[in-house]
Amino acid sequence: MKTQVAIIGGGPSGLLLAQLLHTRGIESVVLERKTKDYVLGRIRAGVLEQGLVKLMEEAGCADRLHAEGYVHDGTLISYGDEMFRIDFTEHTGTPVIVYGQTEVTRDLYAAREKAGGRIDFNVDDVVIHGADTDAPFVTYTVAGEHRRLECDFIAGCDGFHGVSRQTIPLDVRREYEKVYPFGWLGILSETPPVNHELIYANSPRGFALCSMRNENLSRYYIQCSLSDKPEDWTDEAFWQELKRRIPADQAANLVTGPSIEKSIAPLRSFVTEPMRWGRLFLCGDAAHIVPPTGAKGLNTAASDVHYLYNGLRDFYEKNSTQEIDLYSQKALARVWKAERFSWWFSSMMHRYPDQSAFDLKMQVADLEFLRSNKSAQKAMAENYVGLPY
Ligand code: APR
Ligand code: PHB
Repeated sequence: MKTQVAIIGGGPSGLLLAQLLHTRGIESVVLERKTKDYVLGRIRAGVLEQGLVKLMEEAGCADRLHAEGYVHDGTLISYGDEMFRIDFTEHTGTPVIVYGQTEVTRDLYAAREKAGGRIDFNVDDVVIHGADTDAPFVTYTVAGEHRRLECDFIAGCDGFHGVSRQTIPLDVRREYEKVYPFGWLGILSETPPVNHELIYANSPRGFALCSMRNENLSRYYIQCSLSDKPEDWTDEAFWQELKRRIPADQAANLVTGPSIEKSIAPLRSFVTEPMRWGRLFLCGDAAHIVPPTGAKGLNTAASDVHYLYNGLRDFYEKNSTQEIDLYSQKALARVWKAERFSWWFSSMMHRYPDQSAFDLKMQVADLEFLRSNKSAQKAMAENYVGLPY
């Protein structure tokens, strides 16, 4: 079997790239380890930068997100009972869209199916061959049947635990990592959100986040120990803890209810360089991970896809390799800024086990400077809504 671009991974990165390539008549095959239902069952963050919205529009997949997504012109930040607002639109002229990333993935699957795009599910034993040659190919199995996919290029969109990053030789790869000493316990509940905007809360008991999916589906997180398990937390214990971490007037309005999903995610900052090796290009979580504090995971995957899509389009339409040769440099320049913002925001909002009294004073000073300084708010807003591609 032969195609132009072999895409490993049927998450948002791989699907968005496949659909954008399709709009230019460039063929791809997506190889996904799991089933579509499994991929869609993953609960992920729900804040979309305008750059991702524009890519979804270019891919012809933005109708539902415009119909069902919520335009957010700002966000709330609290510390103790203090709370202030960062106005994205005032400082940048740009809002964000709140729309579940699961829905982004659902829309992309629908578009690929409508276009007759090839997606092989339940693939195993994926091996990338000859990435550093002009004739790369991928071997894999489906239900024990061996397959070989000849291609011009390989997009490694297979996430943090995929095979693509591991294909780049250790003496070529440089990896940078920071593991945070806590996790996020998240629940989904069919209850109205506590506020019409998100609340990022710094409290002496730890971080909390109040988010939403729609007017009757709320998403809440509390910082928890890495030794915690979801089953350690009853719904009641979660709600009581959340109420103690957000301002009293917000807690008084909190509508609680049974959780329909409860999970714990560890937090990590991770980047691998380079994001290209020969004809293999890494995209999204295959190359980098951010703590979810700034909702940059999918949004940074989107800028990777933007750079790679443009590079591949120029290769096929203009016989130019200039943009694919610049891919890793351009993608990493934006990735590192997203890593910085996510690390900074996490540092300001969480409780760390080794924090001294001085460190806690620095957090409050950070928060009060952000609260009182328009330039600081503009810088925060520019990072949150998404730096330019
Ligand atoms: N072969 C084929 N598919 C694989 C393999 C493999 N060896 N390993 C992993 N996969 C698949 C996974 O099953 C998953 O569906 O690759 C996909 C990777 O998807 P994500 O992990 O969601 O990564 P990505 O598409 O880059 O999404 C980036 O979007 O989901 C949000 O915030 C989340 O940061 C994440 C961002
Ligand atoms: C979410 O709605 O799941 C969400 C929103 C913002 C974040 C992280 C997660 O920063």
